[in-house]
Amino acid sequence: MKRSLTQVGGWIEERLALSPLISAFLDRKIPAGVGWLNTLGSATMVTFIILAVTGIFLSMNYSPSPDHAWDSIQYITEELPFGSLIRGIHYWAANAMVVLVFLHMLRVYFMAAYKYPRELTWVLGVFLLLLVLGAAFTGYLLPWDQKAYWATTVGTKIAGTVPVMGEFQRRLLLGGTDMGAATLTRFYALHMLVIPVGIALLIGGHLFLVIRQGISTPPDRQIKDRNDAR
Ligand code: HEM
Repeated sequence: MKRSLTQVGGWIEERLALSPLISAFLDRKIPAGVGWLNTLGSATMVTFIILAVTGIFLSMNYSPSPDHAWDSIQYITEELPFGSLIRGIHYWAANAMVVLVFLHMLRVYFMAAYKYPRELTWVLGVFLLLLVLGAAFTGYLLPWDQKAYWATTVGTKIAGTVPVMGEFQRRLLLGGTDMGAATLTRFYALHMLVIPVGIALLIGGHLFLVIRQGISTPPDRQIKDRNDAR
């Protein structure tokens, strides 16, 4: 078994020569003192992958129209084989992603990892945070039940209070002056297409920078190194 796997690996490697790419990605030197807190970014990324996979299955059975959205969710939960499990995983992974992205940001902030030369990594991170919150907000409406309806009413009203462009923003989100079919399809398109593609592209840029610049040395380690050098 192991031999045939090695042979398959060798066959692919001979044609694609992927190993320099893989070692650039995985075999990186990391500074001493880096620990569990540095896994929060990767954990956030894992939740994103889980959401993308479960989201594909959900989108195959969900109908984004006011007449059928709620029924299709009922169908997924009650009748579709493994539907309730997939929906549950999607729900909990979404909650976990929001918590993890905040914890990751706090780790970066308190370890001052946003400082030179990592300012751009931070800026991409801010956009990632906004998109993650946008995904959570747009996903909340999709079950099209009372909770979803009123949460989105409140959310879009808040968006409408922004000075100057608030009303335009609210209408853009709602697809009109009130919530209806256009709102649901708009939120669905944002939730399963626009936002995930945006997140995937930004994660690509974010990781490129992390690999290019390397992980920052934790502050306590920097102090220790400085004292040792004296
Ligand atoms: C979908 C959301 C995000 C994903 C998947 C993600 C992923 C990652 C990964 C895998 C790393 C390298 C390992 C680590 O330090 O944890 C990293 C580092 C970093 N991230 Fe994120 N991140 C996200 C959001 C954010 C946010 C919201 C910020 C800040 C606003 C941010 C700022 C940074 C910075 C500055 C680094 C470099 C840290 C260092 O060199 O020590 N990231 N990110």
